[in-house]
Parts: sequence; C-alpha cells; structure tokens
Amino acid sequence: MSSEKVRAVQIDRHGGPEVLEVRHVAAPRLGPGEVLVRTAASSLNPVDWKTREWQIGDLPATLGWDLAGTVAVSDDVRFRPGDRVIAMSAQMATKRGTWADLVALPGDLLAPAPISVRFTEAATLPLAGLTALQALEKAQANADDRILIIGAVGGVGGLAVQLARRTGARVDGLVSRPEHLNAARELGVETAASDPSTLPDASYQAVLHTGGPHVTRVLAPGGRYVSITDDPLPSIPEASTSYVEQSGEQLAELAGLVDRGDLRLRVAATYPVEDVRKAHEIFESGGHLGKIVITFTPDDRPPA
Ligand SMILES: NC(=O)c1ccc[n+]([C@@H]2O[C@H](COP(=O)([O-])OP(=O)(O)OC[C@H]3O[C@@H](n4cnc5c(N)ncnc54)[C@H](OP(=O)(O)O)[C@@H]3O)[C@@H](O)[C@H]2O)c1
Repeated sequence: MSSEKVRAVQIDRHGGPEVLEVRHVAAPRLGPGEVLVRTAASSLNPVDWKTREWQIGDLPATLGWDLAGTVAVSDDVRFRPGDRVIAMSAQMATKRGTWADLVALPGDLLAPAPISVRFTEAATLPLAGLTALQALEKAQANADDRILIIGAVGGVGGLAVQLARRTGARVDGLVSRPEHLNAARELGVETAASDPSTLPDASYQAVLHTGGPHVTRVLAPGGRYVSITDDPLPSIPEASTSYVEQSGEQLAELAGLVDRGDLRLRVAATYPVEDVRKAHEIFESGGHLGKIVITFTPDDRPPA
C-alpha cells in the first residue's frame, strides 16, 4: 500500500477555489491503532472554505473533515477490511484531511456507516451531525423546552432540528428566506419564520445559533443561548459557543438514528473530486437545502 499514489485535494496557499489542486501523493502509512479507509465520499463544510481562504492552518494541507468509505487495512480490532465506515477528522488539528483516496485515522474516530443509505448520503453526517448533537447537549435541550434553531435548514441546523425534536421538545426555526419555510417544516419545525421580528419575546429555553444574526430577546429567563459560528457572542451571560469534537462513539449513535428512520440526511448536489473547485463555488453561493458532496468513486451502490 505504501508505494501507491492517491489523489488528494491540497492547497499550498490561501485564496479562492482556484488554489485547490487535485494532486497525486504517496498513500498514507498506517500507525498503531489506526485504520486505512478507501474514501467513497465526503461533504463540504464551511470550515473547508475558511481553511482554504483564511490565513489559518499549516501549509501545504490536504483539506476535508467528513469521510465515508470502506476499510482497506486495519490495526484496530473493531474494524475489518471491507467494513463501511464514517468518520470526522478535525483536519486542522490532526493534519489528516479526508479529501484523499486513502485516509489513515485512529480507530476511535470511526463508526460503522449507516446501513440504510449510500456513501454520498452518509458523508453528510459526521461533522454536521456531531456539531448538532454536541451543541444541543451544551444547550441542555430537553422535553419541556421550547427550542429555537437559527439557520434551521442549514447543514448543522437541519440535523439539529431533527435531534431536538427527538427530545420531545417543541422546536421552532428561523431561516434566511421565505422559500425555505416549507423545508424547515418538513424537518419537524413547528413554527417556521424568515423574519426574526415575528418570533415571540422571552419564549425559548434554548436557542441554537448556526447562522445569520444573533436573536437574544427571544430567550426565556434562565434559558441557554448556544452559538456554533465564528461571530462574536452576544453580550449576555447565557451565551456560549460549542466547538465540535471528534467522537466515533457519538457517530455510531447518529448512524443508528439514520437507520431507524429518525434522522434524515439531505444531499443538495454531488460532484466528482476532480470538480472540487466547482463544488466550492456552488457551496459558497449558499441557499442550499442539503449538503454538497464530493465523490471519489463513480460507483455509489447502496449497502448490500
Ligand atoms: N463551532 C463548531 O464546532 C462548528 C461546527 C460546524 C459548523 N460551524 C460553523 O457554523 C456555521 C453553520 O455551519 P453549517 O455547516 O450549518 O453551514 P450552512 O449549511 O451554510 O448553514 C448555515 C445556515 O444559516 C442560514 N442563514 C444565513 N443567514 C441567515 C439569517 N439571516 N437568518 C436565518 N438563517 C440564516 C443559511 O441560509 P442561506 O444558505 O440561505 O444563507 C444556512 O441555511 C458556519 O459558520 C460554520 O463555520 C462551527
């Protein structure tokens, strides 16, 4: 495996989509406790264009956080060659970007892929799913709450709506445009709004902010306001930021929800890895009802 050349999406300078290069690089070597995954698909997250464009992270870098693919070689007893898996690699910290034909990751980051969906769908789950789950935990969302998701049809928001509903809570959603109101309702939002001024004052025990302006007047006394964005937090004592953490264990939990039909994954568009620049352009144009996926294999058969 070590002499094999693989495709990898790399940058060696920061800038627009034009700095993305699909290169042929040496296949990664497997370390102790690691698993080598042959990538089938990944999805785009805002962190990918930010890492590309902003002056952050070491260069050169292979980009990508999401991974769905098949185990090629394993040094972890939990995973065997041929297993379908998903993972999230915190690319900037791990230096293990997932946009490559072969990716070596510690076994703890992996989970069995959901068996009811294709790799292209499974690839939309890791980063967005873990972020939504962990942010709702931080917001202490529970059955008695009325919860507002700001950015309710986004990559994280769309999963957060569904996960918040599972707690038994009443979930409302704020979206960026009126044409997204129905999509929010289809995800389980009870009251969908595109105009923040229509939201009730002091009514939500938990607010999860995933995009757009902060809306704090809606927070009930004693409520929790959790943001995942880079925007400065509002200056209220109830506000905090949630930062996603890698977890194979929580990914397995999310995959289980997908297989039980409790978590719907949404793909807006799929591009072969050679078209990764185009994928970035489309992603950054915004307004999507689902995630932008890049594929590494033309064949995306459903699980056997
Ligand atoms: N802290 C962490 O660990 C962490 C993890 C994941 C993501 N993030 C960050 O969280 C943010 C969301 O990530 P994502 O993957 O969900 O991105 P996304 O798919 O682009 O979703 C953001 C959503 O916010 C919506 N939005 C924009 N302006 C709005 C407004 N005025 N009112 C209501 N909704 C509005 C967007 O709608 P349009 O598309 O129509 O504009 C979109 O649906 C990004 O900034 C990302 O970098 C942080």
